[in-house]
Amino acid sequence: MTEFFTQLIEALESESLRRPGMKIAPETLAELNSSPVKEEVKQPLPQAERTERAAPAPAPVAAPVSAVPAVPAAAEIPPRAAVVPEPQELPPQKNLVPGTLEHLAETVRHCRRCPLWETRLNAVPGEGNPHARLMFIGEGPGADEDRQGRPFVGAAGQLLDKMILAMQFRREDVYIANIVKCRPPRNRTPMPEEANACIGYLEHQIRMIRPEVIVLLGATAAHFLLQREEGIMRLRGRWLEYDGIPVMPTFHPSFLLRQESAKREAWEDLKQVMRRFGIEPPAPRRRAQ
Ligand code: URA
Repeated sequence: MTEFFTQLIEALESESLRRPGMKIAPETLAELNSSPVKEEVKQPLPQAERTERAAPAPAPVAAPVSAVPAVPAAAEIPPRAAVVPEPQELPPQKNLVPGTLEHLAETVRHCRRCPLWETRLNAVPGEGNPHARLMFIGEGPGADEDRQGRPFVGAAGQLLDKMILAMQFRREDVYIANIVKCRPPRNRTPMPEEANACIGYLEHQIRMIRPEVIVLLGATAAHFLLQREEGIMRLRGRWLEYDGIPVMPTFHPSFLLRQESAKREAWEDLKQVMRRFGIEPPAPRRRAQ
């Protein structure tokens, strides 16, 4: 695996090229280069520890789900208007089985439940292993995702890929979805009406996949899935719960691209998730004298 933080630097550089308005000072990049966190994750990840979906599960989740501190918010979530995919919403030529992720994805691609359909190029239902043990949930598609119809394929997605690899998973092991499935214009935060119209799709996806752990990327994901009002600074790094599933909120990769000082905390959050899967994160490398 290429080293996480080397790639992070590359991602920051490419993001600065992509978004010239966003300043990343050379000294910032230099600091990233010499940061102790970079040293920590530079250690090559043991191949044998990687999670293989086809192979036997690497290790049991370290703690039983019941050991996760119960979060009242999950239980207290008021019922939302369920978005139940209707088979008749699908084009008749599609021979998909209702109740499957593929059926739901096709429904999403034809969805007109909120005005975001008018400006989308493609809906982005989500993708990944239908039996994923680990699920990542972001906010909503950006321009690259809108063009390709796939989640997290732009600069933030490249960073997410590196985070997944640093956790000793592969992208194809996990499932990646968003709160809203269509791009909000100019990448603005989804409005409550949009999120509420769409969240049922995500709830269905979670119910079908039943991951062992969900990582929420950013405050918007935490806000709309858990109905938590706190900012991500307060929520990150704490085990929460959604429908009995342990949830770890952390910073959104886009935020990490802008705010590189947050990378250390994000890595701490991801290490907690790794330990939950029985994966011991690499020990920090000692600096050469
Ligand atoms: N940001 C998100 O929240 N989701 C994506 O799919 C891409 C960028």
